This record gives sequence, C-alpha cells and structure tokens, in this order.
Amino acid sequence: MKKKTKTNWNNLRVKKKHLPRIKSSSELSPTTLLKSIDKHIDKTVTLCGWIYNKRSSGKIQFLQLRDGSSDIQAVVEKKSVDKETWENAEELTIESSLQITGKIKKDNRSPFGYEMNVSKIKIIQIACEYPIGKKKHGADFLLNNRHLWLRSQKQRAILKIRDEIFYSLITFLRKENFLRIDTPIFQQVSCEDTSELFEVNYFGEKTYLTQSGQLYCEAAELALGRTYDFGPVFRAEKSKTRKHLIEFWMMDAELPFTDLQGLMDFEEKLVKQLISDCLENCKYELQVLKRNTKLLKKYITSNFKKITHKDTIDLLNDKFNLKLSYMDDIGAPEETKLAKIYDVPIFITDWPAEIKAFYMPRFKDKELDRVKAVDLMAAEGFGEICGGAEREFDYNKLLKILKEKKYPFKDYKWYMDLRKYGTVPHSGFGIGMERTVRWITGIKHIRETIPFPRMLNRLRP
Ligand code: 4AD
Ligand code: MG
Repeated sequence: MKKKTKTNWNNLRVKKKHLPRIKSSSELSPTTLLKSIDKHIDKTVTLCGWIYNKRSSGKIQFLQLRDGSSDIQAVVEKKSVDKETWENAEELTIESSLQITGKIKKDNRSPFGYEMNVSKIKIIQIACEYPIGKKKHGADFLLNNRHLWLRSQKQRAILKIRDEIFYSLITFLRKENFLRIDTPIFQQVSCEDTSELFEVNYFGEKTYLTQSGQLYCEAAELALGRTYDFGPVFRAEKSKTRKHLIEFWMMDAELPFTDLQGLMDFEEKLVKQLISDCLENCKYELQVLKRNTKLLKKYITSNFKKITHKDTIDLLNDKFNLKLSYMDDIGAPEETKLAKIYDVPIFITDWPAEIKAFYMPRFKDKELDRVKAVDLMAAEGFGEICGGAEREFDYNKLLKILKEKKYPFKDYKWYMDLRKYGTVPHSGFGIGMERTVRWITGIKHIRETIPFPRMLNRLRP
C-alpha cells in the first residue's frame, strides 16, 4: 500500500510578491483582442495577457505576449515611459499576467505583422519561476505539467486547429441537414469490441461507459432522419501506441437510405471540408507546426482511393513480401506500408466478419464471411480515422448474429425493436477526432491532440 504523505500547507504558500496585485477585473480597462489588432493601427489600445518571453538591451525591453487570441511583441523604451512602467516591465517574469497599453504599429518583420509601443504596464501577477523553459523536456515531464504545457506556441497551435476541425465538422453537418442528438454515456450495450468496455458501478449494477453512441443514433435516425452525436467515448484498450487514447472524442453519423458507396462519398466530402477549413483559417498555426500544406491541398483535390480488404492484403503481400492472411486486421505497420503505395486517403471495404462489429451485414465472398464495412485510412501512414458500415436491418439476420455472439438479448431488445417497426436500409460511421487532428496537424503522438489526454498510464492532471 502507498504510504500517505502529510501535506505541509504552510510550505506550500507563495511569497507575497506572487500574490495578485489587483482585487478584481473591475480594476482593469476594457481590452482589445489581438485577433482584431489590424483595425487599430496607429491607435493606442489596452490589452490583457501573459508574457511568454522577454529580452532587454538596457534601455529597451522587448516583451512577447499573448492574449489567447494571438501574440504580439511589445517594446518598452525607458525614455518614453514613466518610472513605474519601466520598473514593472523589469519585474515581469515569464508567464506573468498584465494589462498593457500602447500604440500599435505595422511591422513587417514581426510574424504577426504588428508591434506595440508601450506607454503603460499594470501588473496583475508576477508569476513564480516557470517550470517549462526553452531547453528540451522529456515527454513525462511535459505531460505531468500538461496544465502549463498548453501555453506553449506549438500546443496552442494544435488546440486552435482542433477547435477549427470541431467547428467545421458541426457546421458541415448542419448544412447537410443533420440533426444533433446526444447519446448516453452510461450504456448497457456494447457497440464495438466487448473486451474494451470500460466497466463502472452504477448504484450496484454493472454498466459501461460508451464506446460509441451509434446504436442510439440509429434509434434517433428512425425518428429524425440524418442524425449525429458528438462527444467523448471510452475504450479500456491496453494498447500503448501513438494513436490510442482511453478517452477520445467521436462523432457518429447515421444516414438513412444510404449504402456503402453513398457513405464513402459522404465521408470524403466531410473530410475534405475539414482540411479545407483548416487551410483557410489556420494558416499561421499550420506554419508554426511546419505542416506540409502542399500535401493537405493535394488531399482536397484528389479522389480518395477505394480498395477491398482482400485486395489490400494481396497488394501488401506482393509489394512487401509479407504473409498476411485474408482474416488479418490492418494495423499500424500495414498502414505505414500502404502510405508508400498510395499518397491519398484510402477507403478499405469488405472486411472479414470475424474482426468487425455485430451490426454489420454479412455477405459471402466465395468461401469467406465478409461484412459491408469501410475504414478510412488517412494518408502519410496516419492510419484509420473513420470506421463505418452498412447496418444489418433484417430482424432475423441480426437475431442470428446476437445468438452466435452470445449477447444478452434483454440489453439489445430496444435495438432489435428498431428492426421491427419501420426498419430501413441505413449506414453510418464514426470519426475519431484526435486521430483527425493528429493527421491534419501532422503531430506524431495523439497525446498532444487533446487538452488533457487519458492514456494507459496517465490520468493526471
Ligand atoms: O472504428 P470504431 O471503433 O467505430 C465505431 O465505434 C463505430 N461504432 C462508429 C460508427 O459507425 N458510428 O471507432 C471510430 C473511430 C476510429 O476510426 C478511430 O478514428 C477512432 O474512432 N478511435 C480511436 N481514437 C483514439 N483512440 C482510440 N483508442 C480509438 N479507437 C477508435
Ligand atoms: Mg475501427
């Protein structure tokens, strides 16, 4: 058992100089946002923000600051400010918070295009010594300090792109006549792999955190037509890879009267929209991340490739001298290899029934049991970003599968009802948001694509 350590509250106190210097925001003037600074050239404005870097050349201090919406360099000249402002500027440490007033000048040398000539500084707080410096830190240190690491330029760029992707997604769905419904987090049903269910105690009853809201979206679809849900999902996956999270965000969409072909067309249109909105609205952030935007542009102007699972296996075996079987899954090593063959996203269709979910309709391909499923593989080896399929809509066929898989009928009765009352052919898919952010930002590890990642060995902060 872990030994309990006693908290010494007194030792935890900070020095007086690090306490807030103002009592409330009513002591601050209304501020301009840096995002719209181009409307204030040659005007004096007041901003509130944080210092992320500073240097001094004796009579001039250069403060690099951000206000959350953007960044700017503020120049403090000893000869043009009062004594208090000069001393305040000197006292500022990295990550100190302040209110700053000055005139905005156009400056083509600055990456933001503007600079501020400071006239007044009001300190909000002098930050304690900031643990994240310029030197290289290890991943564990950064993840332990994730609450602070978020402030770094690269992390901010990733999270802005994430926000753009989320916004683009829901805007697109609204335009495409989808209605958002919210599916439950506590579920008695397993949508995907039962071995990855996250068990919780629901007032003494065993239940699970959602793996996907799909089954509930299917219910809503028969009431409202095109529907989607969007929220966090959970997989108790013991995999420690660059693309697995325990908690991640997924959008599940359901399309009535649509087959696999229609589903692929829709997914392709959606993914292209996400990329194109990022290219349009996140130019600076993509530049910070050194993302190859030529490749992103190529994805929106090319047709995504379509290939069956069986042909994929043949192709990989042929090109790379492998011995994969027709029943094998496509994992990370295969995804990397596929990217060497195709330089655009790939839809892989017609998967072995054995490795896919229960609700997918089967068809016999000679001797093999295949299902009408499609995974969308992003390019450059980033791997699967969307998983989708047609849904079995014949009651008796679905019943047979439940029986084979030994699923408890009582928990699926409501889902089966959907096949009894006005069943229709339909398809749907789920897009993993962090996988998509990872691909569009070009970030190697998925842990940086979500503000506070939950992974096999990480639950804090
Ligand atoms: O392929 P999956 O498991 O599909 C479903 O859950 C379906 N019920 C969706 C549906 O048809 N409505 O998951 C969908 C996507 C994957 O393609 C992948 O992008 C992402 O979710 N994903 C993960 N992302 C991060 N960490 C994990 N452990 C993930 N598992 C799946
Ligand atoms: Mg999948």
